[in-house]
Amino acid sequence: MDNSKKAIGVFDSGLGGISVLRDLKKLMPNEDFIYFGDSAYAPYGIKTKDEITKRCVEIIDFFIEKGVKAVVIACNTATSASANYLRKKYKDLPIIGMEPALKVATQGVKNNNIVVMATPLTLKEKKFENLMNRFEDQAKIIKLPAPDLVEFVERGEIDTPELKKYLRSILNPYLGNIDAVVLGCTHFPFAK
Ligand code: DGL
Repeated sequence: MDNSKKAIGVFDSGLGGISVLRDLKKLMPNEDFIYFGDSAYAPYGIKTKDEITKRCVEIIDFFIEKGVKAVVIACNTATSASANYLRKKYKDLPIIGMEPALKVATQGVKNNNIVVMATPLTLKEKKFENLMNRFEDQAKIIKLPAPDLVEFVERGEIDTPELKKYLRSILNPYLGNIDAVVLGCTHFPFAK
């Protein structure tokens, strides 16, 4: 089939990737997308790399059966855990991943305090360490794992008193002293 007629596969551990899909549709209104939200296996952020990679392989095989021309991993966690492996395994398939927007947060500013909220797995992976190393001379980077925030969003609780209480409890130690917060998980923009 002509490549221009093929769809692009987009996936995440659950609902988070819809925040990415929204932007993709705006940027590429003429493309067709197939979205796979792996909610039955969410959250990914507290699983092992092997568990996440196994799910990614099953999802990409499903996309290949559907005849996609490219795959977007709309998940920071799955990108950190599996993107390198997946790009080697599926050599002919373009695979696009996510990265916490530290570059944008540091742009043009020196010595600012940046909190990066993400899943525990994203923050402990080598990929994030390499990213931090690139920007640590420009900012003080504080890692803030927020695994419960994924669960709130999966339950559709994006504006409840419980969510606000949770956010206050994890952000309180830094309030008054933060210049930027990076939402390093695609679930988090829903609670922005
Ligand atoms: N939405 C995902 C991310 O960007 C992962 C959330 C999870 O399943 O833990 O990291």
